[in-house]
Amino acid sequence: MSDLQRTHTCGQLRKEDAGSEVTLSGWVDTRRDHGGVIFIDLRDRYGKTQIVFNPEHNSEAHQQASTLRSEYVIALKGKVTERPEDMVNPNLDTGEIELFVDKLEILNTSETTPFEITDDTEVSTELRLKYRYLDLRRPVMQKYLAFRHKVCQVARQYFDRNNFIEVETPFLTKSTPEGARDYLVPSRINRGQFYALPQSPQLFKQILMVSGLDRYFQIVKCFRDEDLRAQRQPEFTQLDLEMSFVREDDVINIIEGLMVDIFSKVLNKEITTPFPRLSYHDAMKMYGCDAPDLRFGMTIEEITDIAKKTDFKVFQKVAESGGQVRGINATGCASLSRKEIDELTTFVNQFGAKGLAWFKVDESGLTSQIAKFFTAEEQSEIKERFKAAPGDLLLFVADKESVVSQSLSQLRLNIGKRNGLIPARPHSGGNEKEFNFSWIVDFPLLEFNEELGRYDSLHHPFTSPRQEDLQILEERPLDVRARAYDIVLNGVELGGGSIRIHRPDIQKRIFHLLNIDDETAQKRFGFLLEALKYGAPPHGGIALGLDRMVTILLGLDDIREVIAFPKTQKATCLMVDAPSEVDENQLKDLGISLRKPE
Ligand code: AMO
Ligand code: AMP
Repeated sequence: MSDLQRTHTCGQLRKEDAGSEVTLSGWVDTRRDHGGVIFIDLRDRYGKTQIVFNPEHNSEAHQQASTLRSEYVIALKGKVTERPEDMVNPNLDTGEIELFVDKLEILNTSETTPFEITDDTEVSTELRLKYRYLDLRRPVMQKYLAFRHKVCQVARQYFDRNNFIEVETPFLTKSTPEGARDYLVPSRINRGQFYALPQSPQLFKQILMVSGLDRYFQIVKCFRDEDLRAQRQPEFTQLDLEMSFVREDDVINIIEGLMVDIFSKVLNKEITTPFPRLSYHDAMKMYGCDAPDLRFGMTIEEITDIAKKTDFKVFQKVAESGGQVRGINATGCASLSRKEIDELTTFVNQFGAKGLAWFKVDESGLTSQIAKFFTAEEQSEIKERFKAAPGDLLLFVADKESVVSQSLSQLRLNIGKRNGLIPARPHSGGNEKEFNFSWIVDFPLLEFNEELGRYDSLHHPFTSPRQEDLQILEERPLDVRARAYDIVLNGVELGGGSIRIHRPDIQKRIFHLLNIDDETAQKRFGFLLEALKYGAPPHGGIALGLDRMVTILLGLDDIREVIAFPKTQKATCLMVDAPSEVDENQLKDLGISLRKPE
């Protein structure tokens, strides 16, 4: 154990402390030799302090200091001294003082680190993840983790004030369908049987309502074996809640209140509630997706009716075969070159679009290689529909609804970025100005899965249909509306929830619609159906993706920045090297033998 016990942190000392004897400990950030005098910046979580080893002040400490290297861990005792005015460093909280060392103790040495421990280090993600402990030593990463901590603290206090009880639910459990594959855990004691890690605490939180807990919340890990994209991790954290005797507005109000609290206490920003609500139908129609970025307009317009009349075969054929022709007005983009338009075409190709038709708007009307197929009247109708002005570029996709929506929704974001309508996020700065919240409501209960030829829940099978739609449940399932809501922030789905089914007979009808027969329902969800029989109260809730929320609040793009130990796109942890092979004996205990890879 060291003799030197720290009295202050590296971010604490000020001008007023000048003259006092203090002890600091931390990591050597940088070392500079200035003609006999050695300066180091000493770093810990709280900041940096300049340390001076002057041979005239203490020659022994000075001699020792010459062995110091970056990331050595040291403790030192010395005298706080006010810096001469021209030496003050305004970028450092402790910039008005420095410490003259009397005693130095090296607590640990360090090998040369694979990358420099600074905020703006240019290093590959792989290296950062492999040496995550060094990555997390960077001040900026510590700032992100502290920010995330603050969000959680504010949320916990908010829920506590509002009568919610934090309850932990099991990880070793049974499958909860949220649309992904399960992570399975083999049971040693019950050979041949498996637990599933929960995709969410959905069924447990509903059961807590049956138990009369009334208001539940949890900050909880969820596990989903799915294709990973930028905003997804195989294990991620939800801010999860459930409430009894509530309607949609009650859950929505609780979340809006939470957001106001988080923004004011963590970001020192005021936000206005209620957040605007948009129906699923309108979101799809105007933005082509159910998590639209509403920070800018450029809405999608439909011209299928006009397309039918024209001589342009591509449009005509699609319009007549039940498809759609829709487009956007890329305002001010008429100056785009053919090459740039070709690039946009390639861009929409990845979403299934077979092409991208375009018109440039000038004083005389529409110009394009396909303009000749459109009469003057049709051209002016199109211009009118898009409120197009000279200098604009109109872009169209003709296809079935899903392809048109997806292509145009992505194209809209692409043009939005290009036109500077979406504030660029500096990769580590985090000063995104605008936070645009909305609720998407009136979702359909079901969608038709063409691949499997059956209905799927748009949210999950426990979502309640609207009471007044119950009568058409079996006849016109696709017209049934769900009592579901999603919260969207800057074009990212932050969370989703619903009022649930609390009657076993209705839950059974939904299972039937989803092609889940009685036996399967009993096997997978028997406990829920049973619980609903014993006085289940009406209830509903929501879950927010905490990682996503913190990422956006910090103005970042990648959720891995706000997760201490994230996984790669291939769901591996490079630091501990997981997943990995296990002992033959362990497999034997579990009664598992591995198949040869196919
Ligand atoms: P849902 O499946 O919509 O709802 O999940 C809620 C929120 O969790 C976040 N999220 C993810 N974040 C990171 N990585 C992932 N792989 C990932 N998957 C989801 C999203 C999403 O909006 N039980 C229901 C909630 C309810 O009905 O109350 C549920 O889990 O931000
Ligand atoms: P083509 O008749 O294939 O030469 O196409 C003429 C123009 O129509 C080109 O600019 C294509 O990109 C565009 N185009 C082709 N198919 C589609 C489609 N399905 N939707 C929108 N534009 C298309």
